[in-house]
Amino acid sequence: MIHNEALTVARTIADTRRLVGYWRARGFSVGLVPTMGSLHAGHLALVERAQAQTDRVMATIFVNPLQFGPSEDFAAYPRDEVRDFHVLRDQGCDAVFAPAADEMFPDGGGSIDAAWTRVSVAPLAAALCGAFRPGHFEGVATIVVKLFAIVQPDAAYFGEKDYQQLTIIRRMVRDLCLPLRVEGVPIVREADGLARSSRNTYLTAEQRRRASQLAHVMTAVRARIAAGEPPQSATHWGRRALLGAGFDAVDYLTLAAGDSLQTLTLVRPGARLFAAAWLGRTRLIDNIAVGQPT
Ligand code: PAJ
Repeated sequence: MIHNEALTVARTIADTRRLVGYWRARGFSVGLVPTMGSLHAGHLALVERAQAQTDRVMATIFVNPLQFGPSEDFAAYPRDEVRDFHVLRDQGCDAVFAPAADEMFPDGGGSIDAAWTRVSVAPLAAALCGAFRPGHFEGVATIVVKLFAIVQPDAAYFGEKDYQQLTIIRRMVRDLCLPLRVEGVPIVREADGLARSSRNTYLTAEQRRRASQLAHVMTAVRARIAAGEPPQSATHWGRRALLGAGFDAVDYLTLAAGDSLQTLTLVRPGARLFAAAWLGRTRLIDNIAVGQPT
């Protein structure tokens, strides 16, 4: 283990367990913040929440090959570990688990072909993004349950930015009786409304200007629904507005229940507007609450 001033960097499962064991022996509660690195203010909001609620915070950085499709951006995904370690240290995060692929998938020497055991929350994983990214949420759930088994935290922190992911993890924890709390943290946005994302770095200056229209159009759709327009007609308008604003394709713009992720034709408590849309080869996602919160 390297002690980088206040940030401890663990590369192995054994070191991570040793550190958490040391914390536990001193009576500290432990918060877990799983990430794929390329850290920004959205990730730091999770660390901050964890710091407020637990005694010691373990972040993880692992670009998880299981959750990328064959034609997706696994190779291109931004990686800057040294910067990430500095960012975590400046935030006062206690430790980071940043394993190599063969630490997580030792049987295949780092290859995911040896990841035989998979966790599937099938009905929730089929909705929304699941329809466009087959296998994605199985890859997420599988790696997250492994991180839970390695760290055994009291609480784990996930962003509402990936609301479907949060919903799936909550359900997985319930179904598998995992002994931890799952905490959701609101979306951190740029000044113009764009949700912070590691993938925003892919955008050209021109695409970046158009990107803010995703949040703006979603807010306009919400206003239409609040004014009484049927959700199906408001979202139809929204899809056309996004294409008109320069988005190249809209995977979905849908009103759905935050817990079941099923499409809604009427607003009810917990309803959210979910969207995924493309600017060139970059896929952006966002979601906002509609009507009363749950
Ligand atoms: P990653 O995309 O790095 O995100 C890590 C966590 O940060 C997720 O819980 C995500 O929802 C949260 N996050 C990202 N942008 C945010 C924003 N603008 N506001 C609030 N929270 C935000 O999500 C993953 O990694 C992976 O799927 C992972 C859970 C680590 C499993 O591999």
